[in-house]
Amino acid sequence: MVAAFSIANAQKVNVAKAFNNAEMQTAVLLAEIKNDTLAAKKNQVSPRTVENGQFKMVASNDWTSGFFPGELWYFYEYTKDKKWLDLARIYTDKIKKEQFNKGTHDLGFMIYCSFGNGYRLTHDTAYRSVIIQAAKSLSTRFNPVAGVIKSWDHTDGKWKYPVIIDNMMNLELLFETTKITGDSSFYKIAVSHANTTMKNHYRPDFSSWHVVDYDIQTGKVIQKVTAQGYSDESAWARGQAWGLYGFTMCYRETGNKAYLAQANAIAHFILTNKTMPADLVPYWDYNDPQIPNVSRDASAAAITASALYELAKYAPAGNNYKQVADKILYSLTTLYTSKPGDNKGFILEHSTGHRPAKSEIDVPINYADYYYLEALLRSRK
Ligand code: GLY
Repeated sequence: MVAAFSIANAQKVNVAKAFNNAEMQTAVLLAEIKNDTLAAKKNQVSPRTVENGQFKMVASNDWTSGFFPGELWYFYEYTKDKKWLDLARIYTDKIKKEQFNKGTHDLGFMIYCSFGNGYRLTHDTAYRSVIIQAAKSLSTRFNPVAGVIKSWDHTDGKWKYPVIIDNMMNLELLFETTKITGDSSFYKIAVSHANTTMKNHYRPDFSSWHVVDYDIQTGKVIQKVTAQGYSDESAWARGQAWGLYGFTMCYRETGNKAYLAQANAIAHFILTNKTMPADLVPYWDYNDPQIPNVSRDASAAAITASALYELAKYAPAGNNYKQVADKILYSLTTLYTSKPGDNKGFILEHSTGHRPAKSEIDVPINYADYYYLEALLRSRK
């Protein structure tokens, strides 16, 4: 039995209307992409954000390159309209070469949101090959002594072997690859990473550190710090959402009850946090002392809503995760969506990317839109 969370004034979103609005916004976004001839010259293939009024496209090796193709797949899934299928195929193909990228842990985001959704919806064997190659590339970043996949190379010199909580999201690519190939090595890496993260990334209150740095000679933790949060000991909002989503997905893929208990405990931390606003869209970090005069993170809310729809199916009787997710989705739809035609066609506003770096604060951003559409789809099931 898990506690039911307080959700005063819960109302349900009209999914058809929300999808229709999102489709109209995305038509604006597609026109922006077409007009951005400089981006095309720089091989920038995927829209990421609008910052200081500037529309920003990114190259295929950006960690967010798979979200826009993923959104197009979600539009196709919802509408079954060939127009979206054709667009999804075009934008997915633009990031194909990343299957060979061994320089980032973000291949799960990049390839699974794009090719993964494409394969799920079309069974195209060419997509299957890309998924398998990407899983092989990602697996090269696994160290058996530490038992985890290395997240970042760009911080070499500062940290030895950093693992960020976000990395839980990249495990879905590995689980899927074992399912489609029968090769259990990918599954074993994912389980080792999840178990090690569960052991080292969480505090007694089930909030998560952002970065854990490992010594790969001994496998021991060197330090626990932050990169994108308020402080080393704070709870960065999106990190809590990545963990919730990641452990829920790991339970789906393994049936290991420890992951389910972890996801329930993370949900408890998020939903009972004293700084959580009534609309359930968190401030960017649960421990920023400037709350309420700081930016929200709509992306964390969208990821949380999507995760809770799934967790609602697995959690013990008495949980009201679905109703909580409904409430988050209602808030995002009624209070955080762009006015028609605004924000260069991005769907949601008020996300926070990297506040300590003064980057992407209170902006629309592609991963908020991706998980918002995913949550809308999940809300129907
Ligand atoms: N994975 C990077 C972020 O959530 O900002």
